[in-house]
Amino acid sequence: MKTSVNDVKIIEVPTVSDTRGKLAVVEKDCIPFAVKRVYYLYDVPSDSYRGGHAHKNLYQFLIPLSGSFEVHLKDGENERKITLNKPNKGLLIVPGIWREIDNFSSGSVCLVLASNEYDESDYIRAYKDFELFKRT
Ligand code: TYD
Repeated sequence: MKTSVNDVKIIEVPTVSDTRGKLAVVEKDCIPFAVKRVYYLYDVPSDSYRGGHAHKNLYQFLIPLSGSFEVHLKDGENERKITLNKPNKGLLIVPGIWREIDNFSSGSVCLVLASNEYDESDYIRAYKDFELFKRT
């Protein structure tokens, strides 16, 4: 699969702001997939490490609802590190990208919108298998 870390991008979520606070809306045209699943990470210890896998077909949009964390991305050739720390800026991760998430700040919450239901067969959990997958 030919996707690269440069296909991963920050998308700004349109926000309505007034004296009462801010309201961010992820609507149909904001992200390039239909959402079939929503999950979130919370109560994450600061020394915790999440991810450590890639997906064959899944698109995900990660939103740091609270706090911050770092996303490390690999496509088999290049790497990128992106810090997420603004609740109106999410990260679109396309299929075929290895990701690791760490440096969670205290109380951070990561919301994930996903293009498909949970399916373990869509995961590539060994880096060697990922390298093979990228060559096909
Ligand atoms: P995993 O996707 O590996 O978490 P992370 O990438 O955050 O480290 O999932 C951790 C566990 O949770 C694994 O046993 C699968 C399970 N899980 C579900 O049952 N449903 C889901 O939607 C997700 C994302 C994970």
